[in-house]
Amino acid sequence: MPDRGRTIQQPVIEAVEEFDPSDLDDLCEAAEEAILDGNGFGWLTPPPRSVQESFWKGVLMVPVRELYCARFEGRIVGSGQLVKPFSNNEASGHIAQISTFFIAPYARGYGLAIGLLAVMEKSAKEQGFKILEADVRETQTAAISLMESNGFERWAVKERYAWNGERYVDGFYYKKNLVEFDEI
Ligand SMILES: CC(C)(COP(=O)(O)OP(=O)(O)OC[C@H]1O[C@@H](n2cnc3c(N)ncnc32)[C@H](O)[C@@H]1OP(=O)(O)O)[C@@H](O)C(=O)NCCC(=O)NCCS
Repeated sequence: MPDRGRTIQQPVIEAVEEFDPSDLDDLCEAAEEAILDGNGFGWLTPPPRSVQESFWKGVLMVPVRELYCARFEGRIVGSGQLVKPFSNNEASGHIAQISTFFIAPYARGYGLAIGLLAVMEKSAKEQGFKILEADVRETQTAAISLMESNGFERWAVKERYAWNGERYVDGFYYKKNLVEFDEI
């Protein structure tokens, strides 16, 4: 990472409600590197920076989305979103989702994803959600290991879940119960 003369800090996970311009810049750079690495989210190639900035600013405007960022050596290097159901969706009001969850390649292997996942799970529990869900491509081996070693259970496989630029790949659907269910 380029040295911007910042003091090295401990890894930290933080809820983001507004962007400092340099944080937004770092988040865009981290996402670009994740997209180029091939296991990003949605985009197959990095969009123009202005498009990405609008995307992240848009995330902050959606009330049902909570954005969490991982900061390492003072800079934002990844993020995850806790996506809650809209208020009309009373029938599925017990389920929250994890989305757009990534760590830039240059900051992987330091436990930041474990930290992000723990913080999102804690927030979901505190808000009374009973099930947490996530879906990943079959090729996202690190994410699959992360989910399975953190109590997520694979409950479905969706064929042709995503186009990766060369071929269709399947998707794995995961869930984790956040409470004990008394099944009838
Ligand atoms: C998945 C991802 C977020 C992990 O980020 P990370 O910060 O490197 O992960 P951590 O250092 O916190 O490691 C957490 C766990 O993930 C798994 N993991 C991480 N890297 C791995 C790898 N290269 N191979 C296998 N498992 C891996 C392990 O279970 C690891 O726990 P362990 O160290 O006790 O074995 C990152 O690789 C990434 O952004 N991948 C591309 C996008 C993606 O797949 N997002 C997930 C969508 S749900």
